[in-house]
Amino acid sequence: MVCSTAMLVIGLLICTFVLCSSENVLPQHEKFVLKFRRGGMVCTNEQSGLTCTSPRAHHDQGTVSSHRNIFSSERDGDYALGFERASDDSWFLSIYAYHPSNGTAGSSIWRASSVDGSEVQVPSNSSLVFLQSGNLELRGSEGGLQWTPNTWGLGVTELVFFFRGSSKSAGGNLILFDSANQLVWQSMRPLKTNELRLGMASRSDIVCTSGESSGMDCNPALEFPMNPSRGTGNHRNVISYNGDGKYALGIERLADTATFFLSIYIWNQSSGTATGPSIWRASHGRSSIPVAVDEHAIVAFRRNGAFELRDHSNKLLWTTGQTGASELGFNFDTGDLFLYNREGSIIWRSGGEASLQYVALFVSPTTEYPVPKLNPGSRALAMA
Ligand SMILES: *[C@@H]1O[C@H](CO)[C@@H](O)[C@H](O)[C@H]1NC(C)=O
Ligand SMILES: *[C@@H]1O[C@H](CO)[C@@H](O)[C@H](O)[C@H]1NC(C)=O
Ligand SMILES: *[C@@H]1O[C@H](CO)[C@@H](O)[C@H](O)[C@H]1NC(C)=O
Repeated sequence: MVCSTAMLVIGLLICTFVLCSSENVLPQHEKFVLKFRRGGMVCTNEQSGLTCTSPRAHHDQGTVSSHRNIFSSERDGDYALGFERASDDSWFLSIYAYHPSNGTAGSSIWRASSVDGSEVQVPSNSSLVFLQSGNLELRGSEGGLQWTPNTWGLGVTELVFFFRGSSKSAGGNLILFDSANQLVWQSMRPLKTNELRLGMASRSDIVCTSGESSGMDCNPALEFPMNPSRGTGNHRNVISYNGDGKYALGIERLADTATFFLSIYIWNQSSGTATGPSIWRASHGRSSIPVAVDEHAIVAFRRNGAFELRDHSNKLLWTTGQTGASELGFNFDTGDLFLYNREGSIIWRSGGEASLQYVALFVSPTTEYPVPKLNPGSRALAMA
């Protein structure tokens, strides 16, 4: 009896940790999915290599001494999540492009960092814990908590790591979703390269007015690299990059109408057109209905940290509020707009305001620009 109970328990344990949990992780072509309701997982970076309590998506352990993959794919150049050696006995938790054919990795596009922005380093024998409650914890060799996205209690049900760009997200992004498929946390942060930083507190208000045919006239005038490409009558750039295929912020005309939005879109300077639909439009709260403005829209960056949209009569239509932000950041690679406080923490972001739109960021980037019907009160203006 004791024996059979023990057998049953052992059987259940085997089922829990080996057989049944093999459904816990779903390696797919573009992404790796972990469903928390099927159990947690612990991956420990031992001296000899990485071990996980549950099957992983990795196809290559990362036998090289510099990288130990937790999730990786079989294709060269796909992104991997893993431990990256910082020094002899010190590791980062990182995301990097990985090449299984020769076992090498590219430079990291993300590293777990503490609130002050410093990158966390942990010794050998540290673990990344995937808690069934939907939180992640990086614990040092002595078990102390070194890093967490702090999603405990936020209803996270699924982790998705995108090996490469897909219809839902950018490659190399680690996302935690709740049961309503809302984005709760993601690793993607502004890249330091190709990010414009504008000191707001340190200068006077910048007020930009949309002209008759193209471009925005700003007072004081915007400096490079803020506005080298004025745009066209349909896309009047406020912030743009001196090149093709980068995101721009500007006033966008709703096709062939007198309705305009404050939007973020990919701008092609050579052709003078936007590529694909806008990835973000100023809207109230989490609403997906963008705020409409007339042709002579005013966009202002205030000293008090407010980023505003006004109509031709200077009536305030939309604002981030007096956030006290000291800097504005715009990432030309991701199209993310940020407001930072003095400590460098993000206090407002374009994606955070309507995270579903952010997830929709990479939906059909090659489709034609949609011509949404003007249908106030409906969600018809939500992005494709
Ligand atoms: C490894 O392979 C990748 C992809 O094929 C290549 O880009 C990279 O240069 C290679 N690295 C080395 C050190 O051979
Ligand atoms: C890691 O753990 C093993 C076994 O517990 C131990 O022998 C080894 O010294 C540890 N290494 C470090 C760097 O803590
Ligand atoms: C930009 O436009 C030019 C000219 O129409 C085109 O050849 C090029 O492929 C476009 N580039 C991007 C990144 O869309």
